[in-house]
Amino acid sequence: MIRVVVVDDIPSTRENLKKLLSFEEDIEVVGTAGDGREGIDVSRQLQPHVVLMDVNMPGMDGISATEALAVELPQCPVVIMSVQGERDYLRRAMQSGAREFLIKPFTGDELVASIRRVYELEEKKGSYSPKAAAGAAVGEPVNPGGQVCVVLSGKGGCGKTFVAINLAAALRVETSTRVCLVDLDLQFGDVGVMMNLDHAKTITELVDGQGSMDWEFIDDVLADGPLGLRVLLGPFSPEYGDLVRADHVRAIVDILRREFDYVVVDTASQLSEATLEAIDAADRVIVVGALTIPAIKDTRLMLKMLESLKVNRDRISVVVNGHDAHAVYDAPSIERNLKFPVRVQLPSEPRLVGGSIHRGSPLVVTHPESDIAELLRGLANSLKPDAAASGEIKVEVKAASPRRFSLRR
Ligand SMILES: Nc1ncnc2c1ncn2[C@@H]1O[C@H](COP(=O)(O)OP(=O)(O)O)[C@@H](O)[C@H]1O
Ligand SMILES: [Mg+2]
Repeated sequence: MIRVVVVDDIPSTRENLKKLLSFEEDIEVVGTAGDGREGIDVSRQLQPHVVLMDVNMPGMDGISATEALAVELPQCPVVIMSVQGERDYLRRAMQSGAREFLIKPFTGDELVASIRRVYELEEKKGSYSPKAAAGAAVGEPVNPGGQVCVVLSGKGGCGKTFVAINLAAALRVETSTRVCLVDLDLQFGDVGVMMNLDHAKTITELVDGQGSMDWEFIDDVLADGPLGLRVLLGPFSPEYGDLVRADHVRAIVDILRREFDYVVVDTASQLSEATLEAIDAADRVIVVGALTIPAIKDTRLMLKMLESLKVNRDRISVVVNGHDAHAVYDAPSIERNLKFPVRVQLPSEPRLVGGSIHRGSPLVVTHPESDIAELLRGLANSLKPDAAASGEIKVEVKAASPRRFSLRR
């Protein structure tokens, strides 16, 4: 039953709407109110699924009431009913959080369709988005299930995909829990080739509308990677990337976090809607940079952007991937420049990294004894929900090696 509250100052309108809706088997008017203030009180009491709201009412008008409801009862979507000529109000009303609006006079069919649409959307959001259901503020850690870890970088070629793959593999090794890797580089995703996965289904299958977005469907699309990793591949061809919308990303991530302990998301270098959605859903964000001036600049911009998105600093780890052998910078100079601690600096290991990619297997699997594998395992451990936000782990570097690497956590 879709429970509806009707807010309108004219008693006969309230009665008519009630009568109209009484013919629908799945809709029930559970309460009515004569102005905005009363509408809020009644909604707070009855917690309806949908609120039908008139605009012009004495006392508190429908728009102010909608604004207040959006803050106070975000799980109660509002459908605004207004007469022609109030379009300007309507724009404001939509901005204030109304989901739909109906122009009077509307037909019973239009009304019913609108109520069902809003209800269904809210249901989907409720089951997909724990954040919305809990009414949590943006930027707060959300985590009724697994940890979502998004790997970002400003510049391409910094080793984002390399880090994402090895992080996922290292999480499997270190935690023996369920881990899923998602390729959200929707145009030129490399996870499939870098892991040598021969699999016919990709994220495109999930968004083409052929099936409903649920775990069974996603399970069928996921590839099986090494170590028992599950992998959601990116589209096979760039033009399919556009099919994946932000709401798809949200739905997929929310289902995956219920099924897995860790969801590692690789991203494209360009900031897309999909990436922003993933950042919004993330518990942890890893920013991969390199030892070049442009890469440092891009890392700084990325950190700035994360700040403006209100991502808490504690949830961000900067990884400097030192794969440029001629670099003249080191972690401390980068930290000074970024005004942000570098959690781990990975050494340049073209032979090991190249070899692992050639074999299509994560480096933490092919060269588990190497320093770089140990650092990646340390990074994985620092992502455990109970890991300390600060402190430092040092990796003992073998005697022959002139390098020193450290891992902060
Ligand atoms: N630590 C490293 N040492 C040597 N080569 C590296 C290292 N990290 C990454 N690479 C190489 O850099 C290239 C780009 O890495 P990739 O993960 O595809 O970057 P991105 O996803 O950021 O574009 C890859 O070919 C990989 O072999
Ligand atoms: Mg990549």
